[in-house]
This record gives sequence, structure tokens and C-alpha cells, in this order.
Amino acid sequence: MIIGMLLALSACSDTAGSLPVVPYPQDVAFGTGSFNACGAKVRSEGLPAELRAPADSFAVLLKKASGNRSGGSAIVFHNDTTLSCEEYSIKVGRRRIDVYSSSYNGVLYAVNTLKQLMPAGIYSGEYDPEADWDITCVSIKDKPRFGYRGALLDCSRHFFSIEEIKRYLDVMSIYKLNRFHWHLTDDHGWRVEIKKYPLLTEVGSWRNGTMIGWDADSNDGIRYGGFYTHEQLRDVVAYAAERGIEIVPEIDLPAHMVSALAAYPHLGCTGGPYDLMTVWDIAKDVLCVGKDSSFDFLEDVLSEICEIFPYEYIHIGGDECPKIRWENCPHCQARIKALGLKDTDKWKAEHYLQNYVTARVQKFLAGKGKKVIGWDEILEGDLAPGATIMSWRGVEGGKQAAQKGFDAIMTPCEYCYLNYCQSDKPELEPLGFHEYVPVEKCYGYEPLEGIPEEAHKHILGVQCNVWTEFIATPAHVQYMLLPRMLAISEVQWSSPEDKDYDRFREDVIKHQFPVLKSLGYTYCKVIED
Ligand code: ACM
Ligand code: ZN
Repeated sequence: MIIGMLLALSACSDTAGSLPVVPYPQDVAFGTGSFNACGAKVRSEGLPAELRAPADSFAVLLKKASGNRSGGSAIVFHNDTTLSCEEYSIKVGRRRIDVYSSSYNGVLYAVNTLKQLMPAGIYSGEYDPEADWDITCVSIKDKPRFGYRGALLDCSRHFFSIEEIKRYLDVMSIYKLNRFHWHLTDDHGWRVEIKKYPLLTEVGSWRNGTMIGWDADSNDGIRYGGFYTHEQLRDVVAYAAERGIEIVPEIDLPAHMVSALAAYPHLGCTGGPYDLMTVWDIAKDVLCVGKDSSFDFLEDVLSEICEIFPYEYIHIGGDECPKIRWENCPHCQARIKALGLKDTDKWKAEHYLQNYVTARVQKFLAGKGKKVIGWDEILEGDLAPGATIMSWRGVEGGKQAAQKGFDAIMTPCEYCYLNYCQSDKPELEPLGFHEYVPVEKCYGYEPLEGIPEEAHKHILGVQCNVWTEFIATPAHVQYMLLPRMLAISEVQWSSPEDKDYDRFREDVIKHQFPVLKSLGYTYCKVIED
């Protein structure tokens, strides 16, 4: 809530009654006067050693960006165990800033908020003698609205290097996102080394060309691929953790697996041969779930994934699974018979077979202390308890899931698919899907709308997604992500009553674009018009 707005207007006309902070903090109360942050001494010794890193790296940047001058003022970090995980507060006085938190992410978010109140040089350490270091005296109490604040990058349709992934994580962290959903496998490329199945990367990570533009009959003739080694993945896990981000790896199953079938054709219903897809389409070929060897394969793959990614959730896909191969496969039909699965008024026996797959994988992962997330198709039929639903085909999946007692993460395509267009000016739009999701639409999304109050507790959070069928370069990824991810960050973090598109838009243009520019990101400027 914006408290003391009038006071702020009289104290400092530059604030115009709000802070240039995205996502907007929960509680803001302006005081009078200002703090000059140039050369301020950062004191982190009041924090437990394991929480100090964000404050200490901030100290280094502040010193450099202040031209190594010493200002005589101080920014003092305190450990306040009454605050919840991710919560922080900041009191900006005239001579001193006090920062309170109880967790690593709390310290990090306080630092990120403070940086947004400083000149853009604070991100790179670049000294600008003209910079204005005055921060209006203010008291901020802040914590996120939702615990899960995600962004997905599809690294199967196009492959992005470790350096590019780190750039994606860097910008997520600035805006307090805390889950990187890494789409690692799909029909167009298997991107994760699995030591027990070397052909997954030797064969499954390379496709014979890519369709050109929208022409599904074309092929550019360029062999395309790449994958991440265990060592690289572990490096990214550590890098993300420093930025307050947990990784949710996705192994999409039982569909979107042609890259695995091309490597190990016995895993398919027909036995192949299979080629990685070169066109942007949904494959009919899926994992044969009649054979036990397919589950042995899944368990081996997921075991290696669990070793690399130490967090609670593994995403097991479950989307867009055509049932035609299962309908015609003696192994899958034998499984259906053995399980006594039957068609019902609503679903076919093959839908219940997918429920069986989800439940079996879920049980295996539960044995390793993990929970599963799946796309909303896994709700079709009769889903066993315990899975978390990622609602992408609109909001209905999340609503149904929450009403049935499943946890849900909202990523409805009409608000959160950042591979869709963001301007109505064709000359500004790179090649891609034609659906129109402008920044204002992302910003206006209300994740609890239409969800009965008693089910609100099941909505864990919100995620934006960059699918990369038509996105081949890091600059294009960034252009699609920015600034829409900033809009989503307010959906994920801020109170609905504090959201104000005009304030957000002005802040992004005046304050966030210079930051993104100084860091070398490519972003879409359509909101300037
Ligand atoms: C999806 O977009 N197929 C989850
Ligand atoms: Zn089969």
C-alpha cells in the first residue's frame, strides 16, 4: 500500500508518490528528507555468515559505482528472525539505511530493491560522476504474494548456451523471480546428458535441419543441436542458487519424446525408426508405456536428473499426448487390459493409461523425496493425489485442480506465453506465433480470479514461458521476455491493490529500460509509443 503519498509529494517531487521499484513492494511509507548513497559503507556483519554474500557483493558494486569515494553514511544489514522466508524490510533514514531479513532470499531481495533506488551503474559498478545518489527517506516492508515465481525457457526447440542461460537467470533475479523451469527435452532435441544412455545426446540432441519460417515443407539443411553436461548443469544450479533461484528441470513424458525414441527406438510403440522432428508440430509417436523397459528407462533418466537438481520439484511434462499409437500397440493394449482400464463417458481407456504413467513416475520420484509438476493435461481422466498442475491451456486447468485439492501453478497462455506477439505493429514483430499478448495484458492478469476462496491456498504461483520454436537467438529470447517478464513479476509478487499500469509503464520506461540497456539486454520498446 502506498502510505504517506502526500508526504512524499511535499518531501521530494522526484518520487511522484511512488518508488521506482519493480515488482512494487507490499508496504511503502515515505518519510522526509533523503539519504545520499554515494560511497555508503555496507555492513553485513550482523547477518549469519551464510546470508552475507548478496550484501557483500552489493558492497563491492556500490564502492565501484561510487568512484571509490567514501560518503560517511551506512547501509546496515540485520538478522530479524521474526521475518518469514523471502521477507525483508528497509528503513531509509537521512544518515543510515537499516535492512532486516531472516533468509538468503530476504537479503537478496532487499539488495535488489535498494539497487533499483540507485543509479543504473550499481548493476555493473560503472562510475558516473553525474549520477544522482539521493534516495528519498522511506520505510519498505515487503514479501511476495506467491511463493512460486517462475519463468520457463525452452532449450529443446532451440539450444542456448550456459552463458545465455546465466543471462536469463540474472534478469530473473533482478525482478525477484525464484524458479527457473528448464524445458530440457522435446521432439526437436534432447539437451541433457544422461550417462547411462549416451545415445540420448549422441543421436537425440541433433536434428537434420529446421523448417524455414512457417513453411512446414521446407528444411534449412543445417544440422542443429547441442546439450548440457552434468558438470555444466551443476554449475548452473549453483549459479542460480546464488541468485535465489531454484531450477525445476522438465523431462517431458510420455509424449514430446521423439528425440529419445530416435536414440532408442525400442522405447516406441512401433519400434521406429524415428527421426527428430524438424517442423513445429506435435508428434504422434510417444513412449510405449506397455513395456516395462520404458519405465526402467524413465527411472534411470530421472535418477540422474534427481542427482543433479537438488530441489523439491521435477516437472514430468504430460502435455499434448496423442493416444493413437497406444490404441494400436499390443503392449499398451495389454497394459490397459491388465489394469482393467475402460472407456468412460468422458475419457478413453488411453487417458487412464496416461494417469497410470503419471502415478507410477510420481511414486518413483516420491521414493527419492521429490514431488511432480505436470501440464494441465495430466488432470484428464483420474489423476492420483499429490501432483501439482501447471495450468497452460487457459485458467480452467488451474481452477479445476485447485477445486479438487491439487496445487496449481498458473501459466495461462493468453497472459503468460511470452513467445506470442507483444505489439500490434507487424514491423516490430519478429517471426513467431501470431497470438497477441501485450505487456498490459500480462500486467492485468489476476491469478485468483474465478477461483473459489477456499481453493486459493492451492495456487502456488505464476510462471511466464518462452517457447522457442521461432526463437533461435539469445537477443530474440530477451526481446520476447523483456519487459513482459517485469509485468509478470508484479503479478507474482505485488498486492493486486498496488498494481497500477500507468505507474508501472512509466517506471519501466524511465528506470528499468536504462538498467536493461546498461546490462546489454535486448528488449521491446513498444510501450514507449
Ligand atoms: C505446452 O505449451 N505444450 C505446455
Ligand atoms: Zn505401446
